[in-house]
Order: sequence, then structure tokens, then C-alpha cells
Amino acid sequence: MRPINVGLLGVGTVGRGTWDLLSRNAGEIRRRAGRAIRVTHVAARSAERARELVGARARVCAHPREVTRAADVDIVVELIGGTDAARELVLDAIAHGKHVVTANKALLALYGNEIFAAAQKRGVMVAFEASVGGGIPIVKALREGLAANRIEWIAGIINGTSNYTLTEMRERGVSFEEALAEAQRLGYAEADPRMDIEGVDAAQKLTILAALAFGIPMQFRRVYSEGIAKLTREDIAYAEELGYRIKLLGITRRAPRGIELRVHPALVPARRLIASVEGVMNAVLVKGDAVGPTLFYGAGAGGQPTASAVVADLLDVTRLITADPEHRVPHLAVQPEHLARTPILPIGEVETSYYLRMRVLDRPGVLADIARILAARRISIGAMVQKEPGAGEKQVDIVMLTHRAREKDVAAAIAAIERLATVVGRVRRIRVEELL
Ligand code: HSE
Repeated sequence: MRPINVGLLGVGTVGRGTWDLLSRNAGEIRRRAGRAIRVTHVAARSAERARELVGARARVCAHPREVTRAADVDIVVELIGGTDAARELVLDAIAHGKHVVTANKALLALYGNEIFAAAQKRGVMVAFEASVGGGIPIVKALREGLAANRIEWIAGIINGTSNYTLTEMRERGVSFEEALAEAQRLGYAEADPRMDIEGVDAAQKLTILAALAFGIPMQFRRVYSEGIAKLTREDIAYAEELGYRIKLLGITRRAPRGIELRVHPALVPARRLIASVEGVMNAVLVKGDAVGPTLFYGAGAGGQPTASAVVADLLDVTRLITADPEHRVPHLAVQPEHLARTPILPIGEVETSYYLRMRVLDRPGVLADIARILAARRISIGAMVQKEPGAGEKQVDIVMLTHRAREKDVAAAIAAIERLATVVGRVRRIRVEELL
């Protein structure tokens, strides 16, 4: 069979990784695909860098549209990132009948619905394994391996920069700023690291996971997200004393009245396998009704791991290129006419458990007042620690773990507790996920 021709857009870390991997494992890839897969056209912001990489082995185009429109290109690989130019180019490739492979989570979270509709109409595939969890084959697992299940929930550590920062704060006791600076130095952070620490990157990936798990459209704007910037070493240490680790989790869950879609720091029992995922590594825990919990672990970023996912997509597209479009794997796991309109729950309606830390005056009756406020909103305390005051100190820290409660009731209780004259400053609230 004739080789499959690939047009590569972007020669950054992942673009270079893809080029190297396709060359290094060309024989193995041909054995698996039944035909060669080769890059024939390349375009990049710097034509010079592109030329350095590919030499005379592929044509370096001055404009990316020469790639998306080249008559002899079968698949366009979009690795330029960002959303504006990437959207135009992906839509242009689709319009010209090309299949697309992309690693662009922001593009899919924001414009996935439009892109998949255009691809559907034109009868081409858009593959995006590399958009979530780098080299972890989580898209394929959700779309194919777990296809028999009704997915109950997903909880993922899907931002390496935040996980690295939290690991360093816990293991080495460094400050948030120091830990983040090191993550940036290692090259994991987004160009603007606020995307990592404010939970935006994780929210984009969660949008994609939820769409695949529940067969719903991409709904990035409905994701509740809270980052890790406000976490303190004290909270990390208290969590540890209580048998928990703090992780930035992306959680999506099928609840009775809708789908939860939320990214925030959470206390996770230290004995759960996912609590041991440290540094820049990613992990996604998926609970299916038949299979039970399954855990997918691996490098969530980096040139070679991400290229592993890009090339796997190239193989998949190659194998299905001659299949009639109706018999290919649907973009979002379910047939497009069966996408569900299940509502996304506002965060106030979410039910989970909570870690509450407050600084109070060490006086009789303080605890009783707090307990009364919680009881009035039917929030039950599961565990509590009160620290001994330091010598000469009149204030103490109280740390509580609640049973499951509704977020808006907890928010109202916190506001009432903060109004007590015996409570100093703000109450720290972190959600607790038992992941059972
Ligand atoms: N900035 C991302 C992370 C890179 O830290 O996980 C992969 O999307």
C-alpha cells in the first residue's frame, strides 16, 4: 500500500518529538499500520528551525495553508498550540478533506463541538489522544477500552506543574513560589504558568474527559475551577496528620441531578494509589459500573511521551482511513446524534466532604458555637483536631473533617462561623474526596 503522507504544523517540543519518533520507530510503525507513515510537509513559525529538523526529507512550506491544502497530504498534525490560528488551520484542513491529529486541549475544550461537527460533515477524523495526560492512552481507554461501562466518575491529576509544586511543598517544605519556579525551570509549565496553577489547563483537559465519559458536548465554560495558589504548608501538614494528601484534581461525576465538572485542590486518603502520584506525573482514575476503579498513570507532558500519543493517533487514523465514516469510532465515544444534554451542576449543588481549618480564641464555648452553626445546616463533623496553643498564645487552630454536605450549605456555615467574634480571620476550606 502507498505510504500515508503527514503534514506537520509546528516544530516545538512535541513536533520535534513526533518527527523523531516516526523516524526512529518507522519499521515498527509500518508493521503495525501495514504501510509507512511519513512526514512530507512541514510548516512552523520559524522555517529555519523546521529546515534544521527535517533537512531535505520533507518539504518546508512558507505558509501553514500550503500544508492544510496540499493535495498529497492525508493527515494534518496540528502542534502549534493556542486557539486562534490553530482553529482556522484545523477547520481549513477539514474543509480540504484532511484527517487531523491534534494535541491541543485548549482548542478542543473551546471549539471542539464546532470542529467535530465540521469533521463529521466532511467525513474525516479528528484524533486527540495527546490533548489529555500526554502519553497516557486515556482517550482511547474511555472511548474504546471502557466502552461497555456506564462511567460513574473520573478523578485525575492532569496538571504536572501543580502536582510537582504540591509534591515539593510537602516533601521538601519549600514555599509555593519556590516550587513553581522549579517546575517552570523543568519546562513543564505553560507559557503563562497561571494556566497551570489556577486550574485552567486542568479544566480544559477535564472538559475533554467528561465529554468522552458521558457523551456530552464540550462545556469548558461550565467547569468550576480553583487553583493551588492559596494552599499553605500548614494545610499540607495538617492533611498529612489526618492521613490525607492534597492534590489538584479534575473531577467529573454523574450525580442524580446532573454532571459535576470541577477542578480544585482536594484531600485524598494517603492510602489510595492516586495519592502516591508525585512530581510531574499524571494519573486518571476512572470508575466504571462494570469494571470498577481503573487507574491510568504516566508522563503527562514532554516531547517523547506526547509524541507517543500523537503517533498512536496517526496509526489509528491510518488503519481507519479506508473505513466508511459511519463505521469509525465516534469523536466523543457516542454517535453524534446521541450526545446527551445532561445539565452540568452548579458548584453550590455539589455534595462532598470538607476540611475546615479555623483560628479561634482559646475560650470556653467557642467550639459549641461552631458546632451549632454546622448542625443548623445539617453538616456533620467526622473528625476534629485541636492544636495545643503555643506558650503564651491565646489562639488555637481547629481542623475539622465533615461528612458529605452540600457546597452551598458549607459556604453559608463558613460565612456564619467567620462572623463569630471568637473566630480570627478566614476559615480555610478544602474539599475532601474519598474516591470510593
Ligand atoms: N502545563 C501542562 C502540565 C503541560 O503541567 O501538565 C501538559 O499539558
